[in-house]
Amino acid sequence: MLLDRIQALMAEVEGLAAGSAEEVEQLRLKYLSKKGELNALMADFRNVPAADKKAVGVKINELKQAATDKINALREALGQAETVHAGADLTRTPYPVGLGTRHPITIVRNGIIDIFSRMGFVLAGGPEIDDDLHIFTKLNFAADHPARDMQDTFFIERSDIDVTKNMLLRSHTSDDQAHYMEAHRPPIRIICPGRVYRNEAISARAHCFFHQVEGLYVDKGVSFADLKQVLLTFAREMFGEDTKIRLRPSYFPFTEPSAEMDISCHICGGKGCAFCKQTGWVEILGCGMVDPNVLEACGIDSKEYSGYAFGMGVERITNLKYRVSDLRLFSENDVRFLEEFAAAQ
Ligand code: DAH
Repeated sequence: MLLDRIQALMAEVEGLAAGSAEEVEQLRLKYLSKKGELNALMADFRNVPAADKKAVGVKINELKQAATDKINALREALGQAETVHAGADLTRTPYPVGLGTRHPITIVRNGIIDIFSRMGFVLAGGPEIDDDLHIFTKLNFAADHPARDMQDTFFIERSDIDVTKNMLLRSHTSDDQAHYMEAHRPPIRIICPGRVYRNEAISARAHCFFHQVEGLYVDKGVSFADLKQVLLTFAREMFGEDTKIRLRPSYFPFTEPSAEMDISCHICGGKGCAFCKQTGWVEILGCGMVDPNVLEACGIDSKEYSGYAFGMGVERITNLKYRVSDLRLFSENDVRFLEEFAAAQ
């Protein structure tokens, strides 16, 4: 009987298995090709009495569908297994989730915040997209100051008629000083970590974005001696008790007098090496007494109050502390680099 044959083939099809694409193809030929089982059934179907044709036809169709589905499913399962296998990293640990590590920039930034907060500084910060008014104008930059130049700055909106209307990716965290002084009255003692942007070609020594920490202290009777003591304490806490500092006269539009601070080279201990260009000193930050023009531009009476400010690059301090020689490593997120800092956090 044809129905018995169909039933037997149905059972056979349900139990089909294949270990390779080749075997799947063999099954397709056996059941679904021109000379396959299903076509053989169709040949015999012609002899089925008219009264039974409908019932038998339905069964044959069911069998054909089942065979097609089964063979497709086998092919798909094999395909997937092969892809998974090809992409699998057989050297990977069997433990499913490895513990991550903090990014070195985060570790050092947190370290800086920690040291200054122990000296009474509170955390503050502003936007990364800011206006010319806060990044330059209120900080006493002249209208034609080169820092406003296209070469240095990423502009979002730029007007030649009124530069104070420009919007840009901030090129330093000093804009946080202006924002904070506008909104708060002295005493002000803040530490502002943040990301900054400069239009630089990316290399081992320069990047188009990096991180800074800005510090600002405004109160009655704040002096340069206060600044020096705070920075000395910071340097010793960050780099070790025997670290020395020196302040070299410098120029920033927003401080007067201004200085750059060097620390004795952490790598050679001050003897002279390639990192410190044989000088024994490395520069780590800019600082100075807040220019009275800046206080006034932010609504603070410069006859009553004085202040100091400083700004440092987090990458620079990280390079010194951990001897990272290529700035690009910080933003490539290569886990082999990041894992180096597992013990530092
Ligand atoms: N904004 C300066 C820079 O990006 C760093 C700096 C220098 C910040 C002196 C200060 C400062 O607050 O007083 O190079």
